[in-house]
Amino acid sequence: MVTPTLTPVATHLDLFAQIEDLKRRLNAVILAHYYQEPDIQDIADFVGDSLALSRQAAQTEADVIVFAGVHFMAETAKILNPTKQVLLPDLQAGCSLAEQCPAERFAQFCAQYSDHLVITYINSTAEVKALSDIICTSSNAVAIVNQLPADQPIIFGPDKNLGRYVNRMTGRNMVLWPGACIVHEIFSEKKLIQLLNRYPTAKVIAHPECEEAVLRHADHIGSTASLLSYVQKSPETTFIVVTESGILHQMTRACPEKTFIPAPPNGNCACNECPYMRLNTLEKVNLAMVNRSPEITLDEEIRVRALQPIQRMLDMSPA
Ligand code: 13P
Ligand code: SF4
Repeated sequence: MVTPTLTPVATHLDLFAQIEDLKRRLNAVILAHYYQEPDIQDIADFVGDSLALSRQAAQTEADVIVFAGVHFMAETAKILNPTKQVLLPDLQAGCSLAEQCPAERFAQFCAQYSDHLVITYINSTAEVKALSDIICTSSNAVAIVNQLPADQPIIFGPDKNLGRYVNRMTGRNMVLWPGACIVHEIFSEKKLIQLLNRYPTAKVIAHPECEEAVLRHADHIGSTASLLSYVQKSPETTFIVVTESGILHQMTRACPEKTFIPAPPNGNCACNECPYMRLNTLEKVNLAMVNRSPEITLDEEIRVRALQPIQRMLDMSPA
């Protein structure tokens, strides 16, 4: 009888070594978002928020960009780098905001407000970006809106929570597309108050994709990079973190002596992990590099139209 040979399962150490080797051989760069699992953040060449990752994608000299994030982020990298290969470890890694804003319906919505400028959150498809005047992220949305004339009417999509926050910070009355992030809208105000009763000195830090009821308890509101920078600079030692829990990896690395408490969602689920971001794994990063697939491809006409509002965002973003 022939004994079947079993393929040994690669350990994480093997995978780390293999990915490092592939990086060299492909002249690849791995860009990772803060919501990726810790192993992916650790193997990445650069970890950042959506704006910083777009900037890295715009200036990289690598031939291959492995984007450990979600589809709209990898797509933005491809829009900026049409001749480079952009790999996304799992093509199903989408985003609820992008899914809730189909281009055809967004075009009809915009047509109702023909004198409005269209500012679109980067969490959107290339087709929706192609219908937009300026792209923004949660880091630069307020600064970009503040650069426009006060009487300029604006449509903002697809995140109504970020849009409402920008309206509040800029005194505008932008027309909002009614989208929301499934991760950020599920944080519970009631549970947050219970946590604050247990940790009365804790500072609450929140992403602007959260609902107003949660944001009103926040001591600091900002993009993932801004939340990370706040905890590093703050003299306080305990923080309740109201965003996807992947960010805690960099916070604990940067400030091992501080305490970070992930804010609880409604119910007992692990819904403070983004189900799209978490589709990527170290194994899939390795496989994508071995197979040079899944790869992001784009219709050239859409790419060229989507590039203009992204370029405007990069030009209008504070350093
Ligand atoms: P940041 O740009 O703050 O990293 O946000 C990205 C995102 O998808 C938040 O849910
Ligand atoms: Fe999209 Fe929300 Fe996931 Fe961010 S956390 S990628 S906004 S679904």
